[in-house]
Amino acid sequence: MRKRIGVLTGGGDTSALNATLKGIALKAEELGFELIGFMEGWRGVLEGGRYCVLTPDLIDENYGGTLLKSSRTNLIAANRLDEAIENLKKIGIDGLIPIGGDDTMTVSVELSKQFIMASVTKTIDNDVGLNPPEGSAVNYSKMFNYFCPGFPTAASRLIRYVQDLRTTAYSHNRIFFVEAMGRDAGWLTLASAYGHADLIVVPEIPYEPDRLAEAIRRKHIENENVVVVVSEGIRNQKGELMITSKKELDAFGHTRPGGCSEIIAEAMRLRLSKEFPSATFRHIILGHLQRCGSPIALDRDCAIKAGELAVRALDEGQLNGVATIMRTETGMEPVLYPMDQVIKRDENNKVIPRSLDLRFYNVEDYQISPAGTGYFRPIFGDLTKLPTHDLGTANFGVI
Ligand code: F6P
Repeated sequence: MRKRIGVLTGGGDTSALNATLKGIALKAEELGFELIGFMEGWRGVLEGGRYCVLTPDLIDENYGGTLLKSSRTNLIAANRLDEAIENLKKIGIDGLIPIGGDDTMTVSVELSKQFIMASVTKTIDNDVGLNPPEGSAVNYSKMFNYFCPGFPTAASRLIRYVQDLRTTAYSHNRIFFVEAMGRDAGWLTLASAYGHADLIVVPEIPYEPDRLAEAIRRKHIENENVVVVVSEGIRNQKGELMITSKKELDAFGHTRPGGCSEIIAEAMRLRLSKEFPSATFRHIILGHLQRCGSPIALDRDCAIKAGELAVRALDEGQLNGVATIMRTETGMEPVLYPMDQVIKRDENNKVIPRSLDLRFYNVEDYQISPAGTGYFRPIFGDLTKLPTHDLGTANFGVI
């Protein structure tokens, strides 16, 4: 009988999800499988959930978001794992491919005890996988999941916005605080180095307002404007997320971040009020502008290949593998690893997000380190200097 496999997308969308779906659909067709797409993440496998037959012609890999839609449904907290398995069996699914980040993977781990699965990662936060082994020399080829599909595109969008903002920062001698996404990890924020961010503030390092104010003062003396990129995941000295809206928890128990750029801008305004007028300090929350739109070519192509690999894993009967992206001598290649080899879990079996590797960050200067540029090189090439468009050589008179 023809094999029937399922796919769903969980958690926040990315620009490369349809590309992964395309890879899955193409490989499923090639191997003669019927592909069922479940709508809205794990919600799609519960009572009342919707599903459809997914064929390659329905999917545009260059279009962002997810054709299958997504949700943050938590089968574990809702105690509905058995119901999900029963439904999957009822409609004859032989193997399931969830595409997701740490929360979706946490559910996958539980389901995989009773059901055949192969997962594909995605998240703009880049926090699913393992960093290279510790030591002073970074072995990039030992980084399990070099990047999560979706991350390179979000990073390229952030880079573009940060770079563009410079013209306004220059024109008005402004100090901008740009808030990048990344609830638990500073990967995305670090990428802003490629947009020539002056100071990069990541959640892995405790926030020290006085030290930051001093760094801003120094940068302003140098350039007369400053672009600071802060991660939405920065916590205050009490260890709490700095948010401006009412505290809200999602189904996985995470507080929704957002607003730290405003809080930090105000803290800096107060500390630097003698030197700069109030209006110098501005904040911008980029939010979903980083997650939307079409994928860049590298992201799209890796996402397609990772999708294909997951179907091959089901075909070959490899249980509970994760299609990861690995850096090899010839470029980025998807490689299948057993789930336990590429993610860590806590005592409650929850997947632990991968933090930014601190070898990639220079704490003192709030900047990317040489190892960090080594990481981004295969994605964005060499780090260039901030192009100057000023009146540096002009002959000034003073009135
Ligand atoms: O998927 C990851 C992410 O983009 C985080 O960076 C961010 O904190 C969160 O999702 C936002 O989720 P939502 O779109 O549900 O508000």
